[in-house]
Amino acid sequence: MRAAILTSGGDAPGMNSAIRAATLVARALGVEMLGVRRGYEGLMEGAFIPLGAEEVGSLQGRGGTVLGSARSAAFRERAGRDQARAALAQANIEGLIVIGGNGSLTGLTRLLDPAERGGQALRGLGIPASIDNDIGLTRLALGVDTAINTIVDACDKLADTAGSHGRAFILEVMGRDCGYLAMAAAVSAGAHAVLYPEDGKSRSDLAEAVLRAVRKADARVDSRRHAIILKAEGVSVSLEELRNDVEAKIREEKLRMDLRVTVLGHVVRGGRPSALDRQIGNRLGNAAVRGLLEGKTDMMTAWGPASLPSGVGEISKDPRVAYVPLADALEETRKMLSGTSDFVRWRKEVLRNLEDVMSS
Ligand code: F6P
Repeated sequence: MRAAILTSGGDAPGMNSAIRAATLVARALGVEMLGVRRGYEGLMEGAFIPLGAEEVGSLQGRGGTVLGSARSAAFRERAGRDQARAALAQANIEGLIVIGGNGSLTGLTRLLDPAERGGQALRGLGIPASIDNDIGLTRLALGVDTAINTIVDACDKLADTAGSHGRAFILEVMGRDCGYLAMAAAVSAGAHAVLYPEDGKSRSDLAEAVLRAVRKADARVDSRRHAIILKAEGVSVSLEELRNDVEAKIREEKLRMDLRVTVLGHVVRGGRPSALDRQIGNRLGNAAVRGLLEGKTDMMTAWGPASLPSGVGEISKDPRVAYVPLADALEETRKMLSGTSDFVRWRKEVLRNLEDVMSS
């Protein structure tokens, strides 16, 4: 069998571990593995490169994706997907592994759609990768753990300087439609407040949540007189608007705290993958190749599947990894992003219960 692997959408630490494992496992099982450069853009152009032990040997600790990635507008069109299928057929590739997030996995389902594919022999499996952790039916997507560690590290550093000057910091972190990164990092870092889009707070309530933390910080002494507030980028109010609102109140209430803002931006996406992301990358990459060989298609390998809805998917030979239908994973993703998923409701509930504890 000849298979190919690509990375698509926002890069995520751990993608390289998945590429490495998939290549080495494929080789051991007699499958020829090709890499695709620049995601679906490269797939449409037939930009395949051979992958072997030599190419992937040193990838374990490297961030980003060695194959390159892209957000392809052309692939969203039928003509682009036809071009990609033709390139696959011409290279005799029957199995494709796509490592990416919501948009990339949706792209894979379209590529595999029998109505578009006709009789072409093609199987495809997805590996969830998105620092935002916004993909359904997997406990963690690749890159999330490293991203949280990066944010926690930044919070620790900000706390040092904030405590030295008696300041409050609002730190904005990535998470376009999903506040998981901010929520999880806030708990790990011991932040004093967290603002996330799922909460649906109004502009004045967001400012009040920051002020609650600022007031409590102002009443403390020495280096404890500081506050770290995490804000997910997806929150409807911009950092500048929030800053203006909070500073106006600080003046009005004659608080003695200074406010500073920091945006972590793409720093959160980079860096050496954590041990956990390497673990997840290796094990999902392994399961993806074995799944293709078993004839599986239109599925996603999922991590830590204890919360699988009954009757959905199956646990792989690795008890931490499940195969779930892509359609179910994408449907749950849609619910997560629209706030109708039970899982997201539970996250919100946990965070709301923590609000008073955090700011104290
Ligand atoms: O990959 C997800 C993500 O990192 C979001 O958190 C962020 O909003 C977006 O990608 C940034 O995308 P780009 O790298 O295209 O600017």
